[in-house]
Amino acid sequence: MQDQIFKEALTHKVFEYITKATDELGLDSYVIGGFVRDFILKRGNAKDIDVVTVGSGIDLAKKVASLLPNKPKVQIFKTYGTAMLRFNDIEVEFVGARKESYKEDSRNPEVSAGTLQDDQDRRDFTINALALSLNASSFGKLLDPFDGIGDLERKIIKTPLDPDITYSDDPLRMMRAIRFATQLNFTIEKNSLDAITKNAERIKIITRERIVDELNKIMASPVPSIGFLLLEKTGLLHKILPELIALKGVEEVEGQTHKDNFYHTLEVVDNISKHTEDVWLRWAALLHDIGKAPTKKFDKRNGWTFHSHEFVGSKMVYKLFKRLKMPLNNKMKFVQKMVLLSSRPIVLASEVTDSAVRRLIFDAGDDIDSLMTLCEADITTKNPKKFRRYHKNFEIVRQKIKEVEERDRVRNFQPPITGEEIMKTFNLKPCREIGQIKEAIKEAILEGEIPNEYEASYNFMLQKAKDIGLTAQTEI
Ligand code: CTP
Repeated sequence: MQDQIFKEALTHKVFEYITKATDELGLDSYVIGGFVRDFILKRGNAKDIDVVTVGSGIDLAKKVASLLPNKPKVQIFKTYGTAMLRFNDIEVEFVGARKESYKEDSRNPEVSAGTLQDDQDRRDFTINALALSLNASSFGKLLDPFDGIGDLERKIIKTPLDPDITYSDDPLRMMRAIRFATQLNFTIEKNSLDAITKNAERIKIITRERIVDELNKIMASPVPSIGFLLLEKTGLLHKILPELIALKGVEEVEGQTHKDNFYHTLEVVDNISKHTEDVWLRWAALLHDIGKAPTKKFDKRNGWTFHSHEFVGSKMVYKLFKRLKMPLNNKMKFVQKMVLLSSRPIVLASEVTDSAVRRLIFDAGDDIDSLMTLCEADITTKNPKKFRRYHKNFEIVRQKIKEVEERDRVRNFQPPITGEEIMKTFNLKPCREIGQIKEAIKEAILEGEIPNEYEASYNFMLQKAKDIGLTAQTEI
């Protein structure tokens, strides 16, 4: 076969210096992995370059740094034998070509120096083992021992060696395979898929942070369900997110069935992904029904019910985030809130009253738009008439939200009367009655009994206080 040359991939200035350093040190160097793959796939300008050299990656990095005009600092990772430097907008990592051997209980291999071929052998996928020469005499020449180019054309994820070994050695690659299949819309070759299924158990040696990192990349893809279906098919999802597996299946009692909430959930995630890039809102879509498994009940009168599944689900969000070592911060709280409120607009869609809309805005606050996006994505009915009707109703709800919000400004509700003012007016020390009055004012505003204004609230406070036997100081 004719040598393929990819000089146009190597136009960044930094390659000139790597070539110079390589030739001065008498080494063979290559750019390898994601940079080459993404260039061929035209996936935009890469910010990371991985360079492998047959020799010391650290020495090469130091030499390159000494030649570069900005003389960048070289960060050295002795344990891994790698070095990194930054030049303008790009980060270059240098490593010596290596052979690896793995132990059963770790994904950290024993490493020894090797040839380029050894290094390509140990890579995860054929499409990630493509290398371009950086030596002056063969600049841009492609080294592709496993027909990675062919797999890019065929859109296939395949390991260079026996997949059983590749995945068992480093089980993170199971997640990576599924992540790449999702991001690129590629197919995982059958032997690989079988090997992932066989090795699924070994995911336990991977840190939860790395697993979540891959999950988030799946979640950020255009059609996340591709990844979740593969995770389910291979048995990985059972280990990572059993709460979703619990939603699988349709039960029938006395001829009554409920929908399969697993597949429904994945449809919701795909739907919402067309309308938002926010991975946390996508997480909310993924988890919006998890409370349905533990709350599912059947009785003759009501058929299938999932009472308080939103509340139970929002509690489960915390446990799930904690178990996966995901952040327990405002992102988690946002997901909890979305799950908790996920049925509210649907109830509204059948009867839109001002006070119900006011309460919804009050409870959702600034997240009201995200909540509406989630609820619209939740419409997965295959009946076109119903589909149109539900969407129409949500349009009405959105319109009503706008009107009520303009009029009543309850989105970030601040009580017009503070606790302090109540204490001063009635000469009170901190006590239960203050809370009672504040709550009554809030309720009256949300119910539309009084406008969201100071004077009306003040008068209402005086009336309420009278009812519970308090007298205002000013009245004495
Ligand atoms: N690699 C591997 N096994 C892993 C991780 C990485 O063999 N578990 C190899 C692959 O050849 C990969 C390269 O190291 O192309 C660089 O890895 P990384 O930067 O993590 O991924 P990219 O392939 O560059 O892709 P992305 O940036 O999308 O993660």
